[in-house]
Amino acid sequence: MISIINVSKTFKGKNDVSAVKNVSLEIKDKEIFGIVGYSGAGKSTLIRLVNQLEKADSGQILIDGVDICELKGEALRKQRQEIGMIFQHFNLLWSKTVLENIMFPLVLKGLPKKEREEEAIKMAKEVGLEDKLDVYPSTLSGGQKQRVAIARALVLNPKILLCDEATSALDPKTTEEILELLKKINKEYGLTILMISHQMETIQKICHKLAVMADGKIVEQGSVDDIFANPTDPLTKELIQTVDTGVDVNKLSIELKDKYPQGHLLRITFSDKTSEKPILYSIALKLNIPINIVSANLKMTQAGSLGVIYIHIEEKKDIGPFLAELELQGLKVEVV
Ligand SMILES: Nc1ncnc2c1ncn2[C@@H]1O[C@H](COP(=O)(O)OP(=O)(O)OP(=O)(O)O)[C@@H](O)[C@H]1O
Ligand SMILES: [Mg+2]
Repeated sequence: MISIINVSKTFKGKNDVSAVKNVSLEIKDKEIFGIVGYSGAGKSTLIRLVNQLEKADSGQILIDGVDICELKGEALRKQRQEIGMIFQHFNLLWSKTVLENIMFPLVLKGLPKKEREEEAIKMAKEVGLEDKLDVYPSTLSGGQKQRVAIARALVLNPKILLCDEATSALDPKTTEEILELLKKINKEYGLTILMISHQMETIQKICHKLAVMADGKIVEQGSVDDIFANPTDPLTKELIQTVDTGVDVNKLSIELKDKYPQGHLLRITFSDKTSEKPILYSIALKLNIPINIVSANLKMTQAGSLGVIYIHIEEKKDIGPFLAELELQGLKVEVV
C-alpha cells in the first residue's frame, strides 16, 4: 500500500511555485489508481515524489509502512527497485538495441550476462516484442517504444509501476493496446499502478480509483464508478462531460437554454444492473414527461459497463417527482 500523507512541494526560484499542496492519497495493493487534471496541476511532481525523483518539503510517503522520504543510500536504492516508471516520451537509450534497453536495469544490478538475457527475453515476450530484440528503438513505432519502456520498467520485478502520461503521445488505437497491456500486467503480476493523465478517457478505461487534481490539490477522489455517477467538483464535472458522449455539453446546454428557457437538461448514469430494463421510458410514460434523448453512450470500465444519457425536457414542468422516481429505480441523475 502507498500512503501519501499531507505532502507538499514548492519549487523555489525567483517566483516560488507551489506544485503540490498538502496532498493525501491512499493507493491499495494491486489497484490501478489514476490521477487526472489539466496541465500544470502538479501531477508529474506528485508522482515523482513517490520514487523520490523529487524531494517533498513536508509530509510522508509510506510504501508498505516505510517512509521513502526518510530513506538514503543503499536503502533508497533497494526501495526504488520496487518502483518502475514509464514516461510519455519513453526515455529509451537510443544507441542500444531493444534487448539491451530491457536488460539495462539488470546490468546496473550486476546480474551475470546469461541470466540477464534470459530475464530480458522473458519480459520482451511478455510485451510482444520477441521479434524486435536486435533492432534499435528509432526504428520502432510509438506503441512498440512504449512496450520496450514497459518491459524495462518491469524487468526488476517491481511492486509498483508509475506511469506519467504513458499513452499521451500515442494514437487512439495504440493507446488502447498499451492500456490493455497495462491491465494484463496489473492482473498477472499483481502490480500496483499509479497513472497520471490529462485524459479522463484513459483513466476511465483502466483505473479502479481516481483522484482529480487542480492547482496542486486533490479536489475529488473515489472509485471510477462513483465519480462518474456522482461528480461533485465543477472540474470533475467538466472533465467527465468531455468523455461522456463526445458531445460538447456546455455548448449544448447554452443552445437549449436559448431555445427553451424553461427546459431542463439532465445527465443520467446507469450501471450493468439498471441497463437492461426500460426504466427511463416507463417512468417518463407514467408521469407523462415528454423526454428527448440528446445523446447517449455506453462505456466499459473495470467495474463493468457504465451508461450515460443526456435527456432534455422542453416544457416548464415540475421535474421533482420524475427525478425522485429515477433515483428510486437506481439511476443517478444530475441537472446540468
Ligand atoms: N523542476 C521544476 N522547477 C520549477 N518549477 C517546476 C518544476 N517542475 C514543475 N514545476 C512547476 O510546477 C507546477 C506543476 O508542474 P507539473 O509538471 O507537476 O504539472 P503536470 O500536472 O504534470 O502538468 P502536465 O500535464 O503539463 O504534465 C507547474 O507550474 C510547473 O511549472
Ligand atoms: Mg506532467
